[in-house]
Amino acid sequence: MQIPDLPPPAIPRLSHRHRAMLLEMGVPVWWPDPQAASTPPPVEAPVSQAPTARTETRSALPPQRSVTPPPARVTSAPARVQQIRPHDTALDAWPHLEALQAAIQACTRCGLAQGRQCAVPGMGDSQPDWLIVGEAPGEEEDRQGLPFVGRAGQLLDRMLAAMQLTRTQKVYIANVLKCRPPMNRNPDPVEMAACSPYLLRQIQLLRPKMVLAMGRFAAQTLLSEGGALSADQARQLPLGKLRGRIHQVTLGGLALPVVVTYHPAYLLRSPAEKAKAWADLCLAMDAMDNFHRH
Ligand code: URA
Repeated sequence: MQIPDLPPPAIPRLSHRHRAMLLEMGVPVWWPDPQAASTPPPVEAPVSQAPTARTETRSALPPQRSVTPPPARVTSAPARVQQIRPHDTALDAWPHLEALQAAIQACTRCGLAQGRQCAVPGMGDSQPDWLIVGEAPGEEEDRQGLPFVGRAGQLLDRMLAAMQLTRTQKVYIANVLKCRPPMNRNPDPVEMAACSPYLLRQIQLLRPKMVLAMGRFAAQTLLSEGGALSADQARQLPLGKLRGRIHQVTLGGLALPVVVTYHPAYLLRSPAEKAKAWADLCLAMDAMDNFHRH
């Protein structure tokens, strides 16, 4: 499948409310204020506008101008039946989340089991709207058995707060790998293949409405498993080519929208990219609003 070049991500027009949210994420606000500026900002259109319902919860802030967001880009999963791999028959062995978590905690499918202190199945609401998928546990996560509890996790919490979410309500956080790779090295393909049935089963059981793939390993896994990209495309395409659109995938038998964005650990190293991540979150929030409206 040919992936079209995307235009550079749009810079959002900022209401006072957006500025407050960006500050919460630690994004430096440097765009001209469109309400104050006499000429429009150098963008075609805002990526997104957060919904009125959220505006109402921040009554101290001035009302927003109504701006129609551009239609979201959607890539569809090609019409083909997903291959069931032999070990996927194990999905039936995990009838509910607790059984799945116990299986993850006892897992020895790959070499990472030997080096772990704790496996990290995931945490959050068992009936989430949002599934956040990261890469793999780090040192602190391995120690506590919980996802995203280190520095990257603090930024993730601020990103969720900017979306008026918390990690325990309507959100579930999981990783592609459930065990920490030594020295936090990248996941290898054998480990990802061994671990992916756990993520697929989590998706089946949790039935989220929207999946946020954070970083390239989450994007690779979800888009290739979900039939939106071939395994080669998913491996080769840079994350910048995968973000900025809604990918429609089929995972664990569910049709799901996936939005790809930067991993919080990358954003800590490259804070200038936080604005793009914010645009991705706005895109996902708009899609979620549409979901609830229809
Ligand atoms: N990075 C991840 O991708 N996942 C975690 O749980 C922590 C850091």
